[in-house]
Amino acid sequence: MPDSLIVTHPASATQATLNITEASIKAADLRQFRIGDEPLAAFDPGFTNTAVCHSAITYIDGEAGVLEYRGYPIAELAEKSTYLEVAWLLLNGELPTTAELEAWEQRVTVHRRVPEEVKTVLAGFPASAHPMTILMSSVASFYSFYPDARNFDDPESRSRALVRLIAKMPTIAAYAFRKGRGEDYVAPDDDLGYCANFLHMLFAQPGRPYEEHERLVRAMEVLFILHADHEQNCSTNAVRSVASSGNDLFTCCSAGIGALHGPLHGGANEAVLKMLREIGSVDRVPEFIEGVKAGKARMMGFGHRVYKNYDPRAKIIKKSVEDVFEITGVNPLLKIALELERHGLEDDYFVSRRLYPNVDFYSGLIYEALGFPPEMFTVLFAVPRASGWAAQYQEFITDPEQKIVRPKQIYTGHRTRSYPADGPR
Ligand code: ACO
Repeated sequence: MPDSLIVTHPASATQATLNITEASIKAADLRQFRIGDEPLAAFDPGFTNTAVCHSAITYIDGEAGVLEYRGYPIAELAEKSTYLEVAWLLLNGELPTTAELEAWEQRVTVHRRVPEEVKTVLAGFPASAHPMTILMSSVASFYSFYPDARNFDDPESRSRALVRLIAKMPTIAAYAFRKGRGEDYVAPDDDLGYCANFLHMLFAQPGRPYEEHERLVRAMEVLFILHADHEQNCSTNAVRSVASSGNDLFTCCSAGIGALHGPLHGGANEAVLKMLREIGSVDRVPEFIEGVKAGKARMMGFGHRVYKNYDPRAKIIKKSVEDVFEITGVNPLLKIALELERHGLEDDYFVSRRLYPNVDFYSGLIYEALGFPPEMFTVLFAVPRASGWAAQYQEFITDPEQKIVRPKQIYTGHRTRSYPADGPR
């Protein structure tokens, strides 16, 4: 692989040597190539082939099906770590010591409650409001209560905002869930860990506290670890873009939640359940597969823009499915999912296109078994992603290479015209 490319502009015969940085991807800084005074611009809708930053947080090798946070393989973290430990890792670059972890857990616990006035923000929404809309607005409102978050150049202020965000996301998510069901809010229980407390705030009933089951709490920890970060995806890019104009963490994460809410990003697990219900029984799977091959439907939960191999997160979730179903009882849709996967891994249509199960293929089945309605699925993605957004925000804010985000356009419209002398037509 050459470490530079010589590029010639055909019309002007201008030549330049582009140095190629080879780290996780091969990239060249196109600004080095000038045509006259102008640097060469890349035309790249959707940034599908553009690196926008150097980052040391999350590594993905889509060809090999590898995902690592700060160099630790996702499977090891899912097996041995907790969500809050992973959040610390993402933010600080190293695993915490026992003392650091204990202090971090206590700090997060102290900040779980949300200001009373936020409840009036929630009260203004109709009962039918989507919980992602409530989450997005409530997180944006945090800036009114914690304006210190704008002092992001000060590490102390920045750290206060990071911990508040991570601590309060589950509380707001649980309140949004209960509001939709017309139920009173349940305050955080400081004696419970992060995920156990989340389940408590979601499902406890008056006089009947949520009976936490160790294996269900662990399944939630694992799902949270798997969703904590995924480098420069659409919502992270939204967080970084909004940060680039000098915004506080809460405003940026509110934008991230908005981006995640779109069905092309956070909503596929909901679509998987819909697909499984429509198929209805295992014996109808071959007919469905034929429909997919004929272009009549997509196999939801299959395929990924980056992974051209089994999504490492899907493998781990598949294991958790069995664990959860042992306690909650088996969701009959699982048999259909397994049969679909078997076809997908054997059929040449999927094999030749390198389509494998992604993170969403099995996660909806678990969420449903835990008692969540489909509209909560994306919320369950957003809550743990807060730590990834926070880490990416922090990296952006402290990166001297970064500037306000301002892509170029290729203008194709009219040029300088005169307004009609006799007025509008
Ligand atoms: N079912 C059937 N065929 C598929 C699927 C699928 N799920 N995904 C891709 N293909 C086919 C396409 O039809 C295309 O075939 P062709 O070459 O004959 O035209 C080929 O595979 C390449 O597909 P693209 O759409 O170009 O792949 P891209 O990388 O743009 O799309 C995407 C990735 C959007 C995830 C796609 O695989 C998809 O729609 N999957 C289903 C939705 C889904 O599960 N999304 C969740 C992704 S994970 C996440 O966002 C957290």
